[in-house]
Amino acid sequence: MNIFEELKNKCNMEQVEQFLTEKGNQTEEALRRYLEQLQCPDTGLIEAMGYSLFAGGKRLRPALVLGSAELFGGDIQKVIPSACAIEMIHTYSLIHDDLPALDNDDFRRGKPTLHKVYGEAVALLAGDGLLTLAFELLASTGNAEVVVEVAHSAGVNGMVGGQYLDIQSEGKVVPINILQEIHRKKTGALICASLRCGALLSNASPEGLNAITEYGNHLGLAFQIVDDILNVTGDEKTLGKPVGSDTEHKKSTYPALLGLEQTQKLALEQTHKAISALECFGEKAEVFRQLAMYMLLRNH
Ligand code: IPE
Ligand code: IPE
Ligand code: MG
Ligand code: MG
Repeated sequence: MNIFEELKNKCNMEQVEQFLTEKGNQTEEALRRYLEQLQCPDTGLIEAMGYSLFAGGKRLRPALVLGSAELFGGDIQKVIPSACAIEMIHTYSLIHDDLPALDNDDFRRGKPTLHKVYGEAVALLAGDGLLTLAFELLASTGNAEVVVEVAHSAGVNGMVGGQYLDIQSEGKVVPINILQEIHRKKTGALICASLRCGALLSNASPEGLNAITEYGNHLGLAFQIVDDILNVTGDEKTLGKPVGSDTEHKKSTYPALLGLEQTQKLALEQTHKAISALECFGEKAEVFRQLAMYMLLRNH
């Protein structure tokens, strides 16, 4: 990992951890409130939704929504519903991703996957419940642009479409441009949308919106490339999910196609590009620069 040494010295880990903890706590508190408010006689389903939602994710996406709002001088309370909605959509995507019909994984966020505990039918429905609730929250912002933004990034041109391509590519050697498309869609799109929602709800200028979009595109791709790397080099306990499963399932990944070293170089390149996109913001965007480095250096 010597190509990361320089970055390790530059990265202010504490600043990022403090940022993620603060935004994570704000998100968590609101998420609990939203689940409690659900008027549903079938509390078993809500319990299952909560099982995955509160299993201890990094809360990267809501932190990006809140951080972006802060960058553009917006009101945090105004963006909390969108931040929670995106975390719900992300959690639903993980619940469904782990199902036997998709990646068939038994561990997630350090716990047995939802279907292992509650069964596949409940896992499907808990995912559906989270996705639907997310759009109720997004609609409550009264901002149609934000609803469309998230719908696009989570749907067939984003996460769902990327997941489809990911499954279709199992056991094949896909060219690098297709692999990049898979990664951008299945993971990059929602990460980028998180930043854009914070910006859209904070009346960002067109130039500001473009810059944060470029940051999000590079950060999102780098994030999934690192996810691929960690599936090879990671520690299962720290990661909270299986290691080696991509090879086992003959997944199309960057390390499988290019080898580990070349993959690390690409992740570093995307991180540099993400950081460069923030130039126009000056000091205000320092935490996002640090965050890009942190996400490259992460071990979970
Ligand atoms: C994991 O995402 C799946 C991908 C889209 C790469 P995260 O690494 O953000 O997972 P949590 O939310 O921290 O569990
Ligand atoms: C995750 O892709 C993308 C999703 C939309 C859930 P992976 O299948 O590579 O993610 P992990 O490694 O299981 O978290
Ligand atoms: Mg998958
Ligand atoms: Mg998976």
